[in-house]
Amino acid sequence: MQSSPPSHASRLADLVARAPKAELHVHIEGTLQPELAFEIGRRNRIALPWESPEALRQAYAFTDLQSFLDIYYTVASVLCTEEDFHDVAWAYLQGARDDNVVRAEIFFDPQTHLVRGVPFEAVIGGLSRAICRAERELGISAALIMCFLRHLSEREALETLERAAPYRGQLLGVGLDSGERGNPPEKFRDLFARCRRLGLHSVAHAGEEGPPEFITAALDALGAERIDHGIRCLEDRGLVARLVRERIPLTVCPLSNVRLRVFETLADHCLPRLLAAGLRVSLHSDDPAFFGGAINEVHRQSIMALPLSESDAHRLLRNGLESAFWEPTAAAPHLERLDALFGF
Ligand code: ADE
Ligand code: ZN
Repeated sequence: MQSSPPSHASRLADLVARAPKAELHVHIEGTLQPELAFEIGRRNRIALPWESPEALRQAYAFTDLQSFLDIYYTVASVLCTEEDFHDVAWAYLQGARDDNVVRAEIFFDPQTHLVRGVPFEAVIGGLSRAICRAERELGISAALIMCFLRHLSEREALETLERAAPYRGQLLGVGLDSGERGNPPEKFRDLFARCRRLGLHSVAHAGEEGPPEFITAALDALGAERIDHGIRCLEDRGLVARLVRERIPLTVCPLSNVRLRVFETLADHCLPRLLAAGLRVSLHSDDPAFFGGAINEVHRQSIMALPLSESDAHRLLRNGLESAFWEPTAAAPHLERLDALFGF
């Protein structure tokens, strides 16, 4: 039997898979695959409350952000030593290389680990070692963004910043994540002011489940340079106009949004509307081990489910490379390669 030729969408997805890309919204704890979580748990004598990796995967039936976070923090509790943090980051970075990621700005949640008595040094030491190794062995440029948990207090975040002080040189920036409901950005105004004075870049999750006002507050109260998710901006026309005018990047994660029930299916996702509005959108994986795919899979499924043109796909990739916190001279060769691949 003759197989039918690949569709236009599938050819476009293949092209995107080969293109250089920047991963700007990935939580390292969210890259921990069930098999590795069980292996690390065994060596640390920490039992996860599931019988097997398969049973854990079965539990990935989320109803909203909080239902995911409950499992995500439990899985992350196996991470204890420098070696653990190295291993999870190294596994992620090897996969990222296969997806043609050339720049990865990786989130980590130190508070999740410090509260269990894990030393800051083990967390940042392991992650930094994997990043240096990736630069050397995989040719990926990578850096760390330290996220604060917004369900905790500003005082606790400030204490975490104090503990991070000796490692300032290993941090690219700070972010804000965890449960958005009831935790507006204003809660962390002083913290982010201090981080900015330290010369750290700032990003924040906003408008994922929370209202568009949280996006405005992330910009005004926190000075966020990029908004993670930001999809609910579409509910406020004035905000959309501002985001377009100020060229604020939105790091959008369609597979995450579907798994966390922000949209019923991928075909319902607002990505085409975000692009049509002229917003500076790029696509990312968020927590790939939990949401069904790394960055190439995110692009592939989005292209297959949504009416995205070649020029949309090119724009998404270009936006990602241009929104990374790296020198324009570092981005330039990758942008050139991207344009050449797309014939621009
Ligand atoms: N931490 C990990 N993934 C997250 C998400 N999608 N939103 C908020 N906090 C997170
Ligand atoms: Zn996220």
